Amino acid sequence: MPDEISPTRTSPVAIVGAGAVGTALARRLVTQGHPVQAVLSRTADSAQALAERVEAPVDSDDVSALPSDVRLVLLCVPDDAIASVAERLATVDHPWADTIVGHTSGAHTAEILSPLADRGAATLSFHPLQTFAPTTPPEAFENILVGVEGKASAVAAGTALAKTIGARPVELTAESKALYHCAAALASNGLVALMAVVEEVFAAADVDAPAVDLVAPLVHQTWQNLKEDSPERSLTGPVARGDRATVESHLDALSDAAPHLVPLYAALSTEMTRTAVRGGHLDSATAEEVLQMLQKPLQSSSNSPDSTGALH
Ligand SMILES: NC(=O)c1ccc[n+]([C@@H]2O[C@H](COP(=O)([O-])OP(=O)(O)OC[C@H]3O[C@@H](n4cnc5c(N)ncnc54)[C@H](OP(=O)(O)O)[C@@H]3O)[C@@H](O)[C@H]2O)c1
Repeated sequence: MPDEISPTRTSPVAIVGAGAVGTALARRLVTQGHPVQAVLSRTADSAQALAERVEAPVDSDDVSALPSDVRLVLLCVPDDAIASVAERLATVDHPWADTIVGHTSGAHTAEILSPLADRGAATLSFHPLQTFAPTTPPEAFENILVGVEGKASAVAAGTALAKTIGARPVELTAESKALYHCAAALASNGLVALMAVVEEVFAAADVDAPAVDLVAPLVHQTWQNLKEDSPERSLTGPVARGDRATVESHLDALSDAAPHLVPLYAALSTEMTRTAVRGGHLDSATAEEVLQMLQKPLQSSSNSPDSTGALH
């Protein structure tokens, strides 16, 4: 039976977890013509508030209120609550063999829903590659990637669901999900951390202002270049030019002002060198010299007895 599960556009959906993702997803489903039948959450107030917003007839702080006609359940609860909510849901009397259950975590696979799979549900991980706050509008799903992984029938339904909300589904395996999530974390959280570093280095140069103000035009133009061409062809700067003297002056200045950032600079510059070689900017002899210059700070950081020493 589960292999034939295929909720249609009008199949009733339940959202569990009326937080940032649950709210945006419920609102998006409704605006795309997919009714939300129930909102279940930890607290009655947030379940009720979202249910009113999306005109869902059922809301509760108890998952046993799951209506029996629901055929798609989406858990939008924090990562560390998914397992316990799945266990609790699995105790509910429901036609699980005709139901798909998904969660929206990037870190977990569908395996975490195994108590529900044991009851016959087709399980799914359905991860929207976007950042959501409580006020994020439902349009935030437009054209984003959604990583879909799990049982084949659930993946087919998740793929259709992603398209329904205007997103681009990408099929993952349980094995590939951690790498997919790692790439997403680098793109989003890595960029934020890099901006924090940029601000810190500007401050060390007595240029005090938010990083986004200082570098917005530079970052916008770089982003524009990346949209029009590959990273290999978009790379500019001292590493791409093989300008060892400038790279050395950066390393020296950082060593004096912010030594804990030297390994990061060296690691990023190493990747710039590899990118520059692939893009044909650097010949292999020059690249080798740049890499050698970057090796020392990288090695000394890996030999460092306390790499958390710079936490402040
Ligand atoms: N936020 C993002 O940028 C983002 C992006 C992609 C994926 N995700 C994933 O989406 C999931 C939800 O994240 P979120 O940011 O939306 O979290 P959130 O804003 O903290 O919301 C989580 C909601 O889950 C509810 N909840 C907590 N424990 C519960 C339980 N035991 N039973 C029922 N409901 C429970 C909370 O209920 P009450 O309000 O009733 O207390 C809260 O409304 C996570 O797996 C997260 O990794 C998040």
